[in-house]
Amino acid sequence: MTHIEVWLGDITTLGYDAIVNAANSSLLGGGGVDGAIHRAAGPRLLDCCRTLGGCPTGEARITPGFDLPARWIIHTVGPVWHDGAQGEPEQLAACYRNSLTLARANAVRSLAFPAISCGVYGYPPALACAIAVRVCREWAGAGAPEVIRLVAFDQQMAALLEEALARGGR
Ligand code: APR
Repeated sequence: MTHIEVWLGDITTLGYDAIVNAANSSLLGGGGVDGAIHRAAGPRLLDCCRTLGGCPTGEARITPGFDLPARWIIHTVGPVWHDGAQGEPEQLAACYRNSLTLARANAVRSLAFPAISCGVYGYPPALACAIAVRVCREWAGAGAPEVIRLVAFDQQMAALLEEALARGGR
């Protein structure tokens, strides 16, 4: 059975089977967690990403972790928030689903997600946390990772994730 937990810290430090990157559609790096992951993984990550030809919003791609302690990086592209009526919730849910699908295909047993789209892309954190928890709960079970860690980079996000977990992602 999958254990879903919240953790406050830097996702690049986790020696997990896979960590998820909140990337942009070019997959060529950026700021936020994308920048942190590329800095920690080293230049081989960019060389590898250059061969992938980008990634549409809502989809996911997997690469080695290179200099990271994590074995794999699953890059997914979250939606930019507009008003919630442009398909953003469905696209964000797809980020989590497609990342979990890649995790299962690569026998990932420990998986960590950052708060996808909750930074530069402006997704309201409370709404995003509910989607993250709901989709991870849908996936708990056969073939899913043993541990899914929802990583917060600040106390406020940690509290929102804990709240969503307690509410069951409804
Ligand atoms: N570890 C864990 N979480 C982190 C880290 C880190 N080292 N650094 C930032 N975060 C958190 C942010 O605090 C935020 O809650 O990740 C969440 C996602 O924020 P962003 O990194 O800004 O990602 P996103 O909102 O999805 O925007 C993606 O930003 O960096 C660019 O190239 C990226 O264009 C893309 C866009």
